[in-house]
Amino acid sequence: MSAPAGQGAGRGTGVRAPSRARIAEKTLRTDRWWLSPLLTVLGLSAFIVYATIRAFVRTAYWVPEYHYLTPFYSPCVSESCVEGSRHFGAWFGELPGFIPLGFLVLPFLLGFRLTCYYYRKAYYRAVWFSPPACAVAEPHAKYTGETRLPLIIQNVHRYFFYVAVVVSLINTYDAITAFHGSDGGFGFGLGNIVLTGNVILLWAYTLSCHSCRHVTGGRLKHFSKHPVRYWIWTQITKLNTRHMALAWTTLGTLVLTDLYVMLVASGAISDLRFIN
Ligand code: FES
Repeated sequence: MSAPAGQGAGRGTGVRAPSRARIAEKTLRTDRWWLSPLLTVLGLSAFIVYATIRAFVRTAYWVPEYHYLTPFYSPCVSESCVEGSRHFGAWFGELPGFIPLGFLVLPFLLGFRLTCYYYRKAYYRAVWFSPPACAVAEPHAKYTGETRLPLIIQNVHRYFFYVAVVVSLINTYDAITAFHGSDGGFGFGLGNIVLTGNVILLWAYTLSCHSCRHVTGGRLKHFSKHPVRYWIWTQITKLNTRHMALAWTTLGTLVLTDLYVMLVASGAISDLRFIN
């Protein structure tokens, strides 16, 4: 995103620039423009607090009878992971308590979400107040957009997208191996519906990414010469229109999936079994 002329409220810049109308109020809007940023900050904060606590507790993340593994700990690739949860082997020895067992995935999960075009819009308004809403002056003296550190890092989003595809594949593998009965054969329970539903929605969120849309149909001069890519691009574009809804839905399903695995793994509830 390029940096437009300063829009801050500092001396002689942005909305205080000599060429702008002299308006003392921060905004002339009388509607509840603050409600959307407030809900955004509450939703994101709740997720960050929950995910951080869960990442460090190191308990109730694996159900050995049914092979349910929470996405917050996947892939679990150290000796500290309980037996059975290391779907891809132990690449590291015992980890000290201050390193989350899902340390391999959490930075990328966070990076993918934080640099997502939708989340940027949301937290630039709700957290950075840059600006808080349309026709509401921002408190910053200067606006530099994403042209310098730290916000210039947002431009690596396309690389996080490729990692997110790998993470979705890992979560898909976890969901498939979770069709496991207590006798070692095929099993099917409510946990499978939760895990599989979460994975389907994660794929929908990942594939609806703006970077994915560019990967599939970007830089083409003639769609007619690339009918397959054009078809894929049109499907991704349809999904892309739901990106905001998918961003919030998958935050919810991630928490729900982790919570369900935690409750079953800790013995607080029993998994509802349909087969075995
Ligand atoms: Fe949101 Fe890529 S734009 S995940």
